[in-house]
Amino acid sequence: MRTLHQTFAVPFQFPVHFTSGLFKIDNPTLSDTLDARGDRAGKKALVVVERQLLKHFPLLLNQLALYMQVNVPDLQYIHKTIIFEGGERIKNDTGAVQELLKTIHEQGIDRQSFVLCIGGGAILDMAGYATSIAHRGIRLIRIPTTVLSQNDSGVGVKNSINAFDKKNFLGCFTPPFAVINDFDFLTTLDDRDWRGGISEAIKVALIKDASFFESIQRNAQDLAHRSMIPMQQLIHRCAEMHLQHIASGDPFEMGSSRPLDFGHWAAHKLESMTSYQLRHGEAVAIGICLDAAYSFLQGRITSKEFEAIFSLFRTLGFTLFIPEMKRSQDLIEGLNEFREHLGGRLTIMLLDRIGKGVEVNEMDQALLVQALQLLEKYQHQDFQVECNEVAVR
Ligand SMILES: NC(=O)c1ccc[n+]([C@@H]2O[C@H](COP(=O)([O-])OP(=O)(O)OC[C@H]3O[C@@H](n4cnc5c(N)ncnc54)[C@H](O)[C@@H]3O)[C@@H](O)[C@H]2O)c1
Ligand SMILES: [Zn+2]
Repeated sequence: MRTLHQTFAVPFQFPVHFTSGLFKIDNPTLSDTLDARGDRAGKKALVVVERQLLKHFPLLLNQLALYMQVNVPDLQYIHKTIIFEGGERIKNDTGAVQELLKTIHEQGIDRQSFVLCIGGGAILDMAGYATSIAHRGIRLIRIPTTVLSQNDSGVGVKNSINAFDKKNFLGCFTPPFAVINDFDFLTTLDDRDWRGGISEAIKVALIKDASFFESIQRNAQDLAHRSMIPMQQLIHRCAEMHLQHIASGDPFEMGSSRPLDFGHWAAHKLESMTSYQLRHGEAVAIGICLDAAYSFLQGRITSKEFEAIFSLFRTLGFTLFIPEMKRSQDLIEGLNEFREHLGGRLTIMLLDRIGKGVEVNEMDQALLVQALQLLEKYQHQDFQVECNEVAVR
């Protein structure tokens, strides 16, 4: 046998900017981003945006075109913007990917040209997938417009669409060229989408950072009432923790362990069981509470800690038990699908305490059914845990 061994490492880097008024003429964030490699002259820029957003920001495309004309005249701005319906349905078939690929082909977008995608996590996932496969990779600038996409999905390296009724079945790991979070977009979110992304922040706080969890507790009422400053702080910290985690761990998920998927095995299954009527962030809130209840029933966390977690989600306005959860066997099937998606051995994140996750390789079905019953009971109870009563260990 003769073998040649190949090894190389490719460093990836991309900025995640936080700003407001992104398309105001005097905001340099976008023009600087486009010139980050000093080679923008002559490159093309194609814009992909969701229709929902244009209803709220009807002048957005005019502002963007003017911005490009004034600040980036050396770039070929493609005026044929692609407008898609936003939301999860965009990931549920290959239609949007095909349309974007066709436009990339027709407009002669090359590997060093830019696609700017403006919208929520769903359209960003779809555009990330399409731009990763066209020419084996086009520069994507993500401009996330929901809490969840600004603090979680938009800052990572994963891109995907759903297939065969399975979440994220088709996809790839491709870092973006840059991410630009403009906080102004958050003002028009409906309450469900304002709230939804907070669950991803609670997720990282619970597995990694007790003081972050406490700060979310302290700000819970303000967050529930749509106060912008604590939301900006939450997004910044959550995005930072996601970035640190991706860089320090297993960015392309070669192993079976996926700490950032705490609460997600049930969340993904519930999304598909509700035909995606439940939003990702809402499903993650339930998934976290379910795994926290299970952690409590296993004696890993105290009842006070479980109640603190449940109560925080309740204060924020989440519903934590839905009728589909009565179909416990169907839900538990989500464990198999999760294992299959990860490959290798089932690895699930549970809690050892608030701020510290622990991985396990199996879940007891009878205990899971009890955890579901606990959530149902608590959902119907009108209880409130005083935030300052909860001792984070
Ligand atoms: N790639 C990853 O690593 C990763 C991680 C987590 C989640 N995700 C994916 O992200 C998606 C969820 O993202 P999401 O929560 O942003 O949902 P979403 O993209 O479905 O958006 C939710 C709703 O908000 C609307 N919207 C977007 N911006 C708006 C604005 N500024 N004002 C008013 N309405 C606006 C959308 O049209 C949609 O109806 C899921 O598909 C999930 O699987 C991906
Ligand atoms: Zn998530």
